[in-house]
Amino acid sequence: MTVTSRQIRLAKRPVGLPDISTWELTTEELPAPGPGQILVAVDHISIDPAMRGWLNDTRSYVPPVGIGEVMRAIATGTVIASESPERPVGSHVRGMFGVADHVIVDAATTDPIDPAIASEATWLGALGMPGMTAYFGLFDVGRLRDGETVVVSGAAGAVGSVVGQLAKARGCRVIGIAGGPDKCAWLEEIGFDAAIDYRQGDVTAKLRELVPGGIDVYFDNVGGEILDAALANLRRGARIVLCGAISSYNAEDLPPGPQRYMALLVFRASMTGFLVFDYADRFPEGVAAIAALIDSGALVARETVVGGGIEGFPEALLGIYQGINTGKLVLTVP
Ligand SMILES: NC(=O)c1ccc[n+]([C@@H]2O[C@H](COP(=O)([O-])OP(=O)(O)OC[C@H]3O[C@@H](n4cnc5c(N)ncnc54)[C@H](OP(=O)(O)O)[C@@H]3O)[C@@H](O)[C@H]2O)c1
Repeated sequence: MTVTSRQIRLAKRPVGLPDISTWELTTEELPAPGPGQILVAVDHISIDPAMRGWLNDTRSYVPPVGIGEVMRAIATGTVIASESPERPVGSHVRGMFGVADHVIVDAATTDPIDPAIASEATWLGALGMPGMTAYFGLFDVGRLRDGETVVVSGAAGAVGSVVGQLAKARGCRVIGIAGGPDKCAWLEEIGFDAAIDYRQGDVTAKLRELVPGGIDVYFDNVGGEILDAALANLRRGARIVLCGAISSYNAEDLPPGPQRYMALLVFRASMTGFLVFDYADRFPEGVAAIAALIDSGALVARETVVGGGIEGFPEALLGIYQGINTGKLVLTVP
């Protein structure tokens, strides 16, 4: 079987937001899969805030995407030709397939996914990398204890919405911070105790009002001024989980540092960064825990699915920085 694959490649490194000239659409004929390989028709591509960082030619936790290389992306798809007994034709897989509509990969680099348990989009969201980030970030890095007070930013997104619901399932009081009244209403609908719309003014004062006793765990997805607002409202012994800082990912100049970092000293608090990939050996534990909560109705897995195929990738990526998503942002490939 010969298949033509189409890919989105990095044409040049962006400054600030990645505009359309950042990308190039290419096509290539794929050979038949070799021993141990599979040919995958990609169905869903995960759109992740971290993608912007992968475009910078700087030292990071993964090498930058090279000029001319296919854009890195986690994706799911269906096996359409196989030289691997573990991944037969018709089975569903997840892997680092990149922004492409067909790929040939070593079967061993893929995870099998079961569409009877959840949709492919959920396997990219609550049961995928964002769900694992929420689970290990909250419990291992945040060392959450039952009944504590948790504040999470980026709360209506893929990671944040799972963080808040996991904390609720442990009997915690949970405040979410998100952009806009619709997202805040949804957070309250899925069980958050309160939600703060950061676009409507003074987050520091609203936190003081909602959490007078202080925050035990602040799960930070956004950095910037919202991090400072949380620092101003800590309880003694608080843990800040440094998950991400999306507010600065497209900044052209280095953003100012946190102004209130002395709160870490005053409140004997800690702030710890982590990478979900370091927990890869324990993903089955996280998947089992979150799948059980979804099954019991205690956790709502939501995705925003945008169409347009791989040509829709440049716009979808800009969309995540504009906050078009509630839950996990996923691009479908026709
Ligand atoms: N450490 C790790 O291993 C790891 C793994 C996965 C993800 N992360 C990080 O976790 C964070 C959340 O990732 P995600 O995949 O769950 O994304 P997401 O929350 O689903 O989507 C990003 C959200 O960020 C918000 N946002 C955009 N610009 C913002 C700004 N300037 N200030 C405040 N909020 C802004 C938008 O929501 P609003 O409409 O609410 O603004 C948008 O929907 C990111 O920082 C990501 O890099 C880290």
